[in-house]
This record gives sequence, C-alpha cells and structure tokens, in this order.
Amino acid sequence: MEHANVRYLEAKRGVDDRALNRRVRDRLLADLPPAPEIVEFAAGTGVTLPRLVEWGVTEFDYLGIERDADLVSYARDRRAADLADAVGGVTPTEQGFRAGDATVAFRTGDALAVDDGDADLVVAQAFADLVPHDDLLAAAERALGPDGLLYLPITFDGGTLFQPDHPADDRVEAAYHDRIAAEPGRDPRAGRHLLDRCRAADGDLLGAGASDWIVRPIEGEYPGDEGFFLSRILEFVADALDGANVDGATDWIETRRRQLAAGELTYVAHQYDLLYAP
Ligand SMILES: C[S@@+](CC[C@H](N)C(=O)[O-])C[C@H]1O[C@@H](n2cnc3c(N)ncnc32)[C@H](O)[C@@H]1O
Repeated sequence: MEHANVRYLEAKRGVDDRALNRRVRDRLLADLPPAPEIVEFAAGTGVTLPRLVEWGVTEFDYLGIERDADLVSYARDRRAADLADAVGGVTPTEQGFRAGDATVAFRTGDALAVDDGDADLVVAQAFADLVPHDDLLAAAERALGPDGLLYLPITFDGGTLFQPDHPADDRVEAAYHDRIAAEPGRDPRAGRHLLDRCRAADGDLLGAGASDWIVRPIEGEYPGDEGFFLSRILEFVADALDGANVDGATDWIETRRRQLAAGELTYVAHQYDLLYAP
C-alpha cells in the first residue's frame, strides 16, 4: 500500500482540514512559544505550512523531513508559492525559502533517523500508523528540546466504514485492517495504542480528540479532488482483499466502484489527534 503520491496527498488536504480536532489544535496553539522551531516528520507535500499560517503562526523555523524526493521537490515549489501569496514574496534558500518571518527547509531522508535537536514542536501527521511507535517516540524525543511538544494529527485508529450498507462490510473491514497489521511496523489501531502509551508514560498527554475523515457526495458530487482520494482508498482496500479469500469481496469492490462513479458512496475513517509533551 503506497500512500506517497502528490495527487493523493493534495486531495487528502481538504479532508484533513475538515477532520482536524479543533480542541487539540487550540491547545497546541496556546502552548506553542513565539517563533517556534518546528520539525515535521513525513512532511509529504508540506501541507502543514499553509495550515500554520492560516492558524496565525507566521514566525517560525520549519524543517520538513520526507523520504520521497519527488514529494520534497513538489513541497519546496508549491509551498513557496502558497506562502508567497500569504506573506507577500519569498526568498529561495538552498533547501527551501524564507517567507516574511518564517524560514522553511525540506530535506529528503528518514525522519526516524533525525539527529538530536532543540525543536519546540514535532508534527507527524498521518504517519503514526506507518511506523513502530518506539522508533517514532524516540525520534521525537531526540528532535525536541526540554519543553517540546509532539503533535500527532490524523492518526488512524482501526475504523473503516463505507455507506450504503453491504453484506460483506464487516469481513472486508477486518481483512483490510489485518493486511495493514501484517505490514512491518504498521498498526491499524495506532491512535488508541499511542493514546494508552502517552497516558502511561512520564510525559503529559495535553490533548486527545477524534479527527475522523468523512468523505461524502454533495448532490452527487465530491468536493475538490475527493472523488480521486476515495478511489485511491478503494484501491488500498482492493489490494488488501487480493488473495484474502473474503466471502463477497468481488461484489463488494464492484459495488463500491459503481457507487463512487455514481456519486453515492460515503467513507469514514476513525482517527485521533494527539498532543503530547514527552
Ligand atoms: C500518509 S503520508 C502523510 C504525508 C503528510 N504527513 C500528510 O499528512 O499529508 C505518509 C508519508 O510518510 C512518508 N514516510 C514514510 N516513512 C518515512 C520515514 N521513515 N521518513 C520520512 N518519511 C516517511 C511517505 O513517503 C509519505 O509521504
């Protein structure tokens, strides 16, 4: 299951915007020091940058680490254009750009191998279900300074719903989550497991709230590029069903593709946003 793709991540952006938990976001903004140093793990296309500006955080030092070089290259160009519009011009630098009071760099690499640092905030969005939690938390603790915050928005938590009802729904959902669990380091219940870990650990769990994705047609049309986003989700599920011997799977996937084309399919994924001070 390969999630790293510019069109998929850009289409996901609007779905995330609706889903992000406002209470957790507000706690993050209340606790963030002025002019924070921010490191983003698995930055993808860099969608966090325009979101920070929209939230009123315009003075910061940001480093996005992403292992896919094509995404890094897209993020540098596209986010420079976004911030130029927002703050009135950018100056290119070796790994990114300066925009008003913000400096931005993107680096191709393994976020889990991050060096020791002194960041005020580590962001890891839609990432915690892809990697071992020990490695993720250890990397975040290395990157953060003493009072640093770890923000984990859009953390998948093992709920995948499609509507209208189909008789194979429960079997398909189980097979999909089983396939995710079988991939090395992945956890289809990452949200609840991280919630437990953060509660039990020495740090402070400052915020936790649901951030479920809901993609639904409005008068038979999906907003923005969300029809494409949903087609990719269906392909992830179809890949998981391949060879899984699930009763009714063929009819399930054909029905879902038909409903998507007709603008009749709704999709919900259960997720958490967490804010933790290690
Ligand atoms: C589901 S995408 C989320 C991207 C972005 N955070 C967002 O929400 O739009 C997961 C991203 O993790 C990246 N990735 C996976 N393992 C990584 C690692 N060890 N270090 C850096 N990036 C990684 C993938 O290339 C992909 O861009």
